[in-house]
Amino acid sequence: MSIDQSDADRANAFFLLDEVLQFFWPAALRAAAELRVADHLADGPLPVQDLAKAVGADPRNLYRALRLLATRGVFAEDAEGRIALTPKADPLRSDAPNSVRSGVIMVTDAMFWSTSGAITDSVREGGPVFERIFGVPFFEYFATDPATVALFHEGMASYSDSENLPVARALPLAGGTRLVEIGGGHGHLLRTVLREHPGVHGVLFDRPHVVAEHGLGELGDDTRWETAEGDFFDKVPAGDAYLMKRVLHDWSDDECVEILSRCRDAMHPGGRIYAVDTVIPEGNAYDHGKVLDVLLMVAFTGRERTAAEFATLFDRAGLTVERVIPTDSVMSVVEGSRA
Ligand SMILES: C[S@@+](CC[C@H](N)C(=O)[O-])C[C@H]1O[C@@H](n2cnc3c(N)ncnc32)[C@H](O)[C@@H]1O
Repeated sequence: MSIDQSDADRANAFFLLDEVLQFFWPAALRAAAELRVADHLADGPLPVQDLAKAVGADPRNLYRALRLLATRGVFAEDAEGRIALTPKADPLRSDAPNSVRSGVIMVTDAMFWSTSGAITDSVREGGPVFERIFGVPFFEYFATDPATVALFHEGMASYSDSENLPVARALPLAGGTRLVEIGGGHGHLLRTVLREHPGVHGVLFDRPHVVAEHGLGELGDDTRWETAEGDFFDKVPAGDAYLMKRVLHDWSDDECVEILSRCRDAMHPGGRIYAVDTVIPEGNAYDHGKVLDVLLMVAFTGRERTAAEFATLFDRAGLTVERVIPTDSVMSVVEGSRA
């Protein structure tokens, strides 16, 4: 660099050099989650030596990783040099009511970490790089590796648990509605929806190996739900309303049109579609959906979409977007009906 650079030039250059190192923050977060550091601090702060012994780690390197996390309020070193849990570290506890430990481990797993490293290929060529690295497309990979499928669904549940209640409350469901949740995973959202809307009957639809692990029994009323297994590109159960959260964002526009068309085919007259995803706002401001979109870009054929892009998708499937309903979370509900 030239010697006559200005202070602003230096600041801008260093800004990038500092930013590019920030991927070590989630890396350190992964170590804390994998080692269950938060679990061992639930009863109070510990000297790093004791904490390292409890979690089976090297004290010096554990301290270094936690010191980095503490720069953003996740764990803290107290005045006596002990490591303490903080409100922002608390959700890393595996039994916290809002635990995100599985979500942290999923997002930092090789399925996304390795694919993010090949982002230039994705940007250059226009498709995901997952298959090139792992040999098969994302969801097929799960059929070959049960450990990863469990990791993925537990991780998804971490995300879901933080958004299910606001999403359920935002859904304008009338009593007597037969609601089919497409790609509903283990049924955490459906369970919440059924609790919030006592007159609704739920159908959980997903791949057989996923439905097999559902937790709808925890609702305490087995008359209010049923399960169905299959492939949403083939056929979905009949119903009055279709709910799909974090499903359309996994797929390309053509694939989404197929999924939406299968719902349209099976939907009772006057039915509704509720597609729940982030809806990307116009402009340059930070938005959670813009980050998630890049994860989808490298690993899936899908993307996060703007309201206009949802309208185009729905239109291609013979549906009309009635409105976009905000929720008290990063997710929005795109409500559609038959065109
Ligand atoms: C990103 S996860 C979302 C899970 C859940 N809706 C949530 O928000 O946590 C996508 C879901 O779609 C399911 N899925 C993928 N391909 C499918 C297919 N062809 N037919 C039915 N379900 C499928 C997956 O098993 C998974 O549960």
